[in-house]
Amino acid sequence: MKVPIIYFSSSGNTKYVCQVVAKGLNSMDLETELIPLRGIKKHPSRIKDAALFGIGAPIYGANFTPNMIQWMKQLPRVNDDKKFFLIDTCSGLSGVALLKARTILTQKGYKCVGGLELISPTRDSVFWTGFYDYISWNEDEIKRAYNFGRLVAKNYWAGKEKFIKSFRVMPFGRILTKLFTYVERPFFKLATKLMAIDHSKCKRCKLCESLCPMEAINVKQDIYFHPEKCMLCFKCMRNCPEGALYLKIYPKAKFFKGPFQIKGYIEPEKLNFRKVE
Ligand SMILES: Cc1cc2nc3c(=O)[nH]c(=O)nc-3n(C[C@H](O)[C@H](O)[C@H](O)COP(=O)(O)O)c2cc1C
Ligand code: SF4
Ligand code: SF4
Repeated sequence: MKVPIIYFSSSGNTKYVCQVVAKGLNSMDLETELIPLRGIKKHPSRIKDAALFGIGAPIYGANFTPNMIQWMKQLPRVNDDKKFFLIDTCSGLSGVALLKARTILTQKGYKCVGGLELISPTRDSVFWTGFYDYISWNEDEIKRAYNFGRLVAKNYWAGKEKFIKSFRVMPFGRILTKLFTYVERPFFKLATKLMAIDHSKCKRCKLCESLCPMEAINVKQDIYFHPEKCMLCFKCMRNCPEGALYLKIYPKAKFFKGPFQIKGYIEPEKLNFRKVE
């Protein structure tokens, strides 16, 4: 059986953590398949057939990202014994995001077997302004992710349904998440006004359109941006080869491109921890 792990990641941290968790599962004889969210939308049967699956997302506005929440909400109800685990990365202000995301699926009959949250090393994956010499994940944190994967697999083989809690709920977390739920839309609406397009630089290559998880960009003869759909993930700005997308307040921002670009990054394949039971 393959365990699909469906993830969204803009600056690479969540993807990296999902890879490490997958490595933990693999070490306990569970095969895994990492599937970007846009991929699973095209092939929904990959989770339909799985007895266990994982979901990984960054925290935006003290909640799982809007695209992941939308996808989770449209999943069908189940009556069989379908298990899932949740992974998120954040800057330390996650409120009760993980518990809230868990409820979306448990209400539909899925059984949650674990939740893992890691704080990204930069604490700010939005920009990489050049202040840092290098950024890397703390090795102990990565071990925690690896061991989480091992424990999920161990319980799976033992037929145990115990919830593995590898995250902390911050004080006033519930209030924070609720507050963000109310201010999120107006905040994004305001913030997306800061996004700007340099029409003279744009080569109409459509890369931004194909990468945007919210269908907030259309490229035809010209490029059209729909701020009401945007969740400010910066994926378009990070990847535009012409530098045609930028922020009005900070046109010279270097967008942080995730751990893959950074000195000190350990390839998940090269992680070789001693076995931890
Ligand atoms: C629009 C936006 C909103 C965010 N909101 C929060 C937040 O409310 N709480 C938090 O702890 N981190 C927040 N973050 C930080 C991300 O959760 C964090 O950097 C995460 O590791 C990014 O994951 P990725 O590298 O996989 O994209 C936010 C980031 C962005 C871009
Ligand atoms: S990725 Fe950049 S150059 Fe390509 S269509 Fe988008 S804005 Fe234009
Ligand atoms: S328009 Fe850009 S920042 Fe907004 S959701 Fe799409 S890719 Fe992300």
